[in-house]
Parts: sequence; structure tokens; C-alpha cells
Amino acid sequence: MGDPHGVGVVGLGFISRAYLNTLADHPTVRVVAVADLDAARADAAAATIPGAEAVSVERLLHHPDVATVLNLTIPAAHAEISGAAIDAGRNVYVEKPLTVAFPQARSLIDRAAAAGVRVGCAPDTVLGTGTQTARAAIDGGLIGRPFSASAVMVTPGHERWHPNPDFYYVPGGGPLMDMGPYYISALVHLLGPVRAVIGAASRLRDSRVIGSGPRLGQRIPVEVPTHVSGVLEHADGALSTLTTTFDGVATTAAPIEVQGEKGTLAVPDPNTFDGEVRHLALDGPGWQVLEPRAGYVAASRGVGLIDLVHADELRAPRASGAVALHVLDIMTALLRSAEEGRRVELTTAVDRPAAVPLTPAEDWLSASASEH
Ligand SMILES: NC(=O)c1ccc[n+]([C@@H]2O[C@H](COP(=O)([O-])OP(=O)(O)OC[C@H]3O[C@@H](n4cnc5c(N)ncnc54)[C@H](O)[C@@H]3O)[C@@H](O)[C@H]2O)c1
Repeated sequence: MGDPHGVGVVGLGFISRAYLNTLADHPTVRVVAVADLDAARADAAAATIPGAEAVSVERLLHHPDVATVLNLTIPAAHAEISGAAIDAGRNVYVEKPLTVAFPQARSLIDRAAAAGVRVGCAPDTVLGTGTQTARAAIDGGLIGRPFSASAVMVTPGHERWHPNPDFYYVPGGGPLMDMGPYYISALVHLLGPVRAVIGAASRLRDSRVIGSGPRLGQRIPVEVPTHVSGVLEHADGALSTLTTTFDGVATTAAPIEVQGEKGTLAVPDPNTFDGEVRHLALDGPGWQVLEPRAGYVAASRGVGLIDLVHADELRAPRASGAVALHVLDIMTALLRSAEEGRRVELTTAVDRPAAVPLTPAEDWLSASASEH
């Protein structure tokens, strides 16, 4: 085994802890540097990671031991930090969405290809046993030809628990850009790429009230639609319907359901790695829970970065920039369709990412993960 792959983390906010927990003890990666606009956050994080130093963003991007930059900043900063990392010759793994606007994302992917560096992007939840077991069932013919899926995400809004929720309500935020990547990435894994979309959007309130932390009670403006619905036409003809809302309370709908001519699959929340996949066969005995049969077992945020580190010429990263670009194309096209009142054809096409074979935790958590 060679030296561990050096990772520099930019953005030490809410979600960084989940990544650091996964990466901290992994034998093939080592977090060598951390940086945040808020230096105190970087200092606090560095204090918890043996061997990591808190540095400026500029220093991190050119740190001799940083091979991959993990960009966990807010969406509005994704393009700038990822672009600077690519220009510094580093691989990038970025939280979702890839960028706020599609042209920036297109440019990132093109620059990375020219520079010969890899781009990965959240979500990696869809590489867990939940979505992957459903995909294996579909690919194995369990429900016959899939022709339709529904994806439903209902929440009253993240300002109820996030202490700094402003980014959820400015361009790049909203329920579609924030939560859509989980559902749409899962739909691409399950049913393949999308060729066109039809969208509709609305906004229930013009402001929101922060529900926790030092800014409790502060009112923040809402600049984006907070309820977005759409139809996705997959390249092979299947149709998915999507609902994402920050305006509702809850739903009893399955997060994702896939309909085939011989059966239906209820797929667990794509914002989690595992969960039960349920199957109802035409003329069958009723709903049955499928045993996990594919995916990274007991995975957690960061597994997509490990998957990227181990990718090679034979196997592209599964939580890839190319998939994220396609997902962003879908999301921005849905919002444009809603604005313009017309069907929008996509400008990107992507291969379905490679399926993840059933990979026990001790395998993807070990240095031999490259075999998977
Ligand atoms: N909060 C969640 O539950 C959650 C879950 C999954 C994904 N995400 C995604 O993770 C990303 C970060 O979310 P979060 O909740 O951790 O946000 P956060 O606001 O808690 O943290 C973001 C951090 O990035 C830093 N930052 C912002 N711009 C920067 C810049 N230009 N240079 C250096 N540092 C900068 C901020 O100072 C802050 O510490 C977002 O893309 C979000 O969509 C969040």
C-alpha cells in the first residue's frame, strides 16, 4: 500500500463532521489540511484531526500533500473553490449542488478534463445498499420493464434546525437544488439519464424565521421557489414525476417508487445510505422486503470520495462530476421550464454510473477498496 491520499477540506460547517468521521480512520486517505473563511472553525476542526493543519484556502489549494480538495462550502462558493482547486491541479469532491448555475458547472467539468483531474460530487448516499439494491432488482428483471417512477420530498424547511439557513433560500437553494440531487441522482441510477423535463414551481411565503442557534427568531428573505414539481423523460422512455417542497409538513408517500409491468419497488430515502427496499409482484403474495444485494454496506458521507480515489481508467468515479452536471442540467431545466411554461430538452447526456456490487463495510473501509 502506498502513502495515504492527501485530502484538504474547505468549509468546516454543519456537514463537515459527517465526512471527517468517515475519513478520519480510513487507511487510504489522510486529511492533511483544513480551511474556512471562519478561521476559528478551521482551528477547531484541525484540533480534532491528528496531523491536520488549519491553513488559508489559498495555502490549502497549493499544499504539497493535498491531492484532492473536499469542498464543503455553501453552494454559492462551490464554483469558485472547485475551480481554483482544479486550476491548482487538484482533484475535487464537492457537496451538492455541483454549482449554483449550469454554465459554471459545464466550465468546471471541461477544465478538469483538460487538466486531467477528477471531479466527484455528492450525493454518495445513492451508492449505499438502499438505492443500489433497488437498482440491482430492476437490472435483474424483477419488476419487468420499468416505465415510471415517482419521487416525493416534503419538509417544512431547514430553517427550523439549521443555525445559518440563508443559503437554502437564495439562488442555488430551494427544495429542488437542495434536495433534488438525492432524488434525481437516484432516478438516474435506477432508470438512467434524462432527455427532457417539464416543471412547475410556486412559493408559499416571502420570508422564513430561523428556529435555532444564535440567530433564533431572525427573519430571512426567500428569493427562490419553495415548491417545485416536474416530469422527467428518461432517455429510454420511462417517465418520472418529482415533487420537492419546503412548504409542506410531511408525507406518507414512499420517497421513491418504481413501477414496472410485473411489479412495484418502494425505494428508501435517497438521503440515507440504506433502508428497506420493498417489492410487490403482480399476483404475488404482498409486499416483501428484499435482502440487501448491492451497494456499500453501512456507508456514510465520504464513501463517494473514497470511491473516487480508487477509480481508475477502467471504472469512473460513481458519484461523479459528470452525473452531477447532468443532475444540475435537469434541475436548472425544471426551473426554466416552470418559468417559461414549456418542455425543456437537456444539453447533457451521461452514462448510467457503474453499479456498486455488495461491498461489506470492512472492505470499503479498508485499503483494498480499489478492487470494488
Ligand atoms: N447541513 C446539512 O445537513 C447538509 C447535508 C448534506 C449536504 N449539505 C451540503 O453541504 C454544503 C455545506 O452545508 P453546511 O450545512 O455544512 O453549511 P454551513 O453553512 O454549516 O457550512 C459552510 C461552511 O463553509 C464556509 N465557507 C463558505 N464560503 C467559503 C469560502 N469561499 N471559502 C472558505 N470557506 C467558506 C463557511 O464559513 C462555513 O463554515 C452545502 O452545499 C449543503 O448543500 C448540507
